Amino acid sequence: MQDKIKNIESLEELQSLYTATFGKNGTMTLRLREMSKMSADERVELNKENATLRELFKVRQTELEQAALMQKLKTEFVDVTLDTEPKNRGTLHPLTETLSQIGAILESLGYTMWTGPEIEDDWHNFTALNTPSYHPARDMQDSFFLDNGNVLRTQTSAIQIRAMEGNGVPIKMFGVGRTYRKEMDATHSPMFGQIEGLYVDKIDAHITMSDLVATIRTMLERYFERKLEMRIRPSYFPFTEPSIEIDIKWNGDRWLEIAGAGMVHPNVLRNCGVNPDEYQGFAFGFGWDRIAMLKFGLDDIRQFYDGDVRWLKNSGFEA
Ligand code: DAH
Repeated sequence: MQDKIKNIESLEELQSLYTATFGKNGTMTLRLREMSKMSADERVELNKENATLRELFKVRQTELEQAALMQKLKTEFVDVTLDTEPKNRGTLHPLTETLSQIGAILESLGYTMWTGPEIEDDWHNFTALNTPSYHPARDMQDSFFLDNGNVLRTQTSAIQIRAMEGNGVPIKMFGVGRTYRKEMDATHSPMFGQIEGLYVDKIDAHITMSDLVATIRTMLERYFERKLEMRIRPSYFPFTEPSIEIDIKWNGDRWLEIAGAGMVHPNVLRNCGVNPDEYQGFAFGFGWDRIAMLKFGLDDIRQFYDGDVRWLKNSGFEA
């Protein structure tokens, strides 16, 4: 019997032999039942045999279970080092990439990032920005108005108002976000991204137009990773005085408008509770789609928003 247990090769067989031995009518069970008729020596002997057999069953069971586990590990082994074809590996959208690069540059210059709501009220999008009621940007043709008088933010300049209201001055911030206007062609999308910069400090900190121009040059040259030829043109924005537009020379012959900027208008400061006799500063704003298009050599802004994976795959953005 002992050898038989030791030589059993499967858990099933072991189980059935166990039942045949210790089950309700098992051989050992029956013998134990006869114990009262035995001599003292015979009882000791039987108890010993009983214990030995139980032990042997246990040992063999452990051995067989162990063997089964080893077998399973061997046959179900997964080779994680196996090479496979990389398929459809994801990549960051070029606009995401652009935003994080520009953000990192501005942060390195001491600017802190702000965001704001895409549905704005008249105050933050227009009035506080010194935009008169007759300004064309308020025209129904240009802006998406909601029935309650709110508007889909037409410019991230709204964020500079929120930042000055929330943080006070001095302040050095940049705002990023989507903006909306009723326009659509190869270089305009009804939804586009803007980045806004604002730096305001005490008058005696001497923040000037030169600082503004140098900041924009630094930002663009770091982003495009080369020296740029820049041109400054006088311009008009209700929220800056004086106002300028900044162009860069592209492909050797073309001037491209990149950003609007200027010294923050005293009325804007006043609207944010800041005394323009004590504080001054500059602001700038530009479309991040535009600079991304230049960097990636694209001619249609709408491709950014089509969500076409084939385009993303073929345009060389993949990491
Ligand atoms: N908000 C302007 C636009 O959408 C861009 C701009 C111009 C922002 C001058 C500024 C600024 O902060 O000072 O066209």
